[in-house]
Amino acid sequence: MYSNLICNYKTRLMPIIGYPMDHSNAAQVYNKLFEIYGLNKIMFPIEIKPEELGDFVKAAKTLHIDTYTLTMPLKSAIIPYLDEVDPCSRVFRSVNIVKTVNGKTVGAGMDGKGCVGALLSAGASIEGSTAVLLGAGSISGAIIYELIQHKVGRVILLNRTLAHAEDVARIMEENWGQKVEALAATPENLDAACADADLFIQCSPLGMYGFPQDHSYLGFLEKMKKTCIVLDCPVNPEYTTLLIRARELGLPIVSGMYMMLSQMTEIYDFCFGLRPGDKEKEECRRVLVAYLDSLKK
Ligand SMILES: NC(=O)c1ccc[n+]([C@@H]2O[C@H](COP(=O)([O-])OP(=O)(O)OC[C@H]3O[C@@H](n4cnc5c(N)ncnc54)[C@H](OP(=O)(O)O)[C@@H]3O)[C@@H](O)[C@H]2O)c1
Repeated sequence: MYSNLICNYKTRLMPIIGYPMDHSNAAQVYNKLFEIYGLNKIMFPIEIKPEELGDFVKAAKTLHIDTYTLTMPLKSAIIPYLDEVDPCSRVFRSVNIVKTVNGKTVGAGMDGKGCVGALLSAGASIEGSTAVLLGAGSISGAIIYELIQHKVGRVILLNRTLAHAEDVARIMEENWGQKVEALAATPENLDAACADADLFIQCSPLGMYGFPQDHSYLGFLEKMKKTCIVLDCPVNPEYTTLLIRARELGLPIVSGMYMMLSQMTEIYDFCFGLRPGDKEKEECRRVLVAYLDSLKK
């Protein structure tokens, strides 16, 4: 492990920052890819609170940290410190990767690209399709934005709090002219929306390891066409109760782990001009599953 590290003056730390970070597992995958590509870099999580972010940004410059990734609650707090941010990440206030180019800091959000990349790898044809999303938190807007880039037909967004789904719908319409049907996430609305779905994307933390609640209703899976692809965003566990039920019903499934690995491809491309392929992603998946298993012991 870490045969890529030379530990000389060119060795670079690429931290993942957020608070708290006890749940963070991304470093396992990044370090594997550094090893695969022989990059003289290392990642580990650092706990940074929002009020410490300004100090971190200064320290990053001094320590020649030219790339870093961010997780909650820093994805929006970082934006005022950056020189450039892509329009979607600025609108949805969600940046999870920063790189320095010619002294300028450039931020981007890769959640949407990761999700859509995982769907495409699973054989989804997005153009003209009906996408149903459950959950209107920090990643839903970016995912819808990417679906629009791939010419999605109809988008239905369901959420526990209707007003939050309506906010995302308004932003999509105002900025990109895409109509998004916002609905309360009741069993009746889920059933009706899912009957038309070609893609179903679960974007809430329900069912995630450590999150206190799971889905109280999964009957909507039974209403879907057998070709509807079901993607669940949480990474851990790899197979959530939603995915297990979808698989029992014979629906094609995509785990949040593949979304994360697909996002990693985009981040490596953005930072280093490298695009990990299926072989590298499978190796990373094995490393991540082994790491998550080791935590259970
Ligand atoms: N695979 C990947 O690469 C990847 C990347 C990013 C995130 N994720 C995962 O995706 C999930 C969502 O991320 P996020 O950042 O968007 O999270 P978030 O902002 O915390 O999501 C909040 C959303 O979840 C809903 N929600 C929360 N608790 C609920 C409950 N008890 N019942 C029903 N709805 C509930 C919220 O509804 P209200 O509006 O009603 O509060 C809101 O729509 C997380 O599990 C995260 O770990 C995965």
